[in-house]
Amino acid sequence: MSDKNFAAASLAAQAMGWIDPVTKAVVPPIHMASTYLRDADNAYRSGRIYARADNPTFDQVEATLAALEVGARALVFSSGMSAASACFLALSPGDHVVVPKVMYWALRSWLAGFATQWGLQVEFVDADHSDAIATAVQAGKTKLVWIETPANPTWTITDIAAAAEIAHRAGALLAVDSTVATPVLTRPIEQGADIVMHSATKYLNGHSDIIAGALVGARDDAYWTKLTAIRAQLGTILGQTEAWLLLRGMRTLFPRVAWACRSAQALAERFASHPMVDHVLYPGLASFAGHAIARKQMRDGFGGMLSVRVKGGERAAIATAARVELWKRATSLGGVESLIEHRASIEGTGTPCPADLLRLSVGVEDSDDLYRDLDQALRRAHNA
Ligand SMILES: Cc1ncc(COP(=O)(O)O)c(C=O)c1O
Repeated sequence: MSDKNFAAASLAAQAMGWIDPVTKAVVPPIHMASTYLRDADNAYRSGRIYARADNPTFDQVEATLAALEVGARALVFSSGMSAASACFLALSPGDHVVVPKVMYWALRSWLAGFATQWGLQVEFVDADHSDAIATAVQAGKTKLVWIETPANPTWTITDIAAAAEIAHRAGALLAVDSTVATPVLTRPIEQGADIVMHSATKYLNGHSDIIAGALVGARDDAYWTKLTAIRAQLGTILGQTEAWLLLRGMRTLFPRVAWACRSAQALAERFASHPMVDHVLYPGLASFAGHAIARKQMRDGFGGMLSVRVKGGERAAIATAARVELWKRATSLGGVESLIEHRASIEGTGTPCPADLLRLSVGVEDSDDLYRDLDQALRRAHNA
């Protein structure tokens, strides 16, 4: 199966159509070995030495992800955090990086804490304004611009093409956390990004049963070699069983994301006029600040994530989450089951997340059921 001849949905469904050359199995085996035989002449002609560097079970999942993101190479990691932090650890103390104020909270904490102590100069900006990125970058000094779009938990949109142009003009790379968009909706490399990062825990796997991360590189260059070395040296590789599960999950990525987008759009539109909802945050709403840019850089939908700001503030929001029956009260996102979360509670003190915000990850249940369940929870919370 050539990635040039088939649509991305077909490549994903058949995981590139690879067939096991030994058994003709249409599903690959899991390679458990931690070490590989050295040839008698002392060479390692198989290219494999020790499984802290890689594992044959990664080959198909990395090839599939690279094809879906139209990148040159992909690497799977033990988590989204280990994939993301590798991008910063591949820089040098003293380097300047530009990152968003609104982003996945644990990475924001790591950047403000460990990365800053290590010596990176980390500058937080309102990345939904390209001007703010342009003002922050320092030619020759800024080495990496990091963006997340749509960004947790308010789904602000960053213009990827504009950010790439600004970063490249300053001699910096652009990395995009595309966890929420997935390659179904956005292919950042086509818009100028150098690196795409995924918490593969989310939509790529889709079943809330593994922790995984991934990077895709536009080029197999010196920076990519550093990222590969960091994974091998720190041993932040994915387990082989998790890699196998991830590949299985990715086969249904396109139908899952399409379904979630349809439901999220319908729910956003219905809750926008709900008497107990103050505001719905969703890039697919025409009233949403980043809608025009989202239309430009996303196709076939605006994602399965939305947030509602509940009338009555924090207490009403927590009381609503307490009364759902179908939605599951849990953190994370991108699984087949719909999740609801009072986001400020998990992000803790100092979070920019509004206290009245409930984050919704829309799964593949019936959309009317999801509406009815949240509607009854909102009404009961307000009558309590
Ligand atoms: C947008 C985004 N990026 C990165 C991460 C971190 O990924 P992981 O939990 O797989 O380490 C998450 C996790 O929630 C996320 O939502």
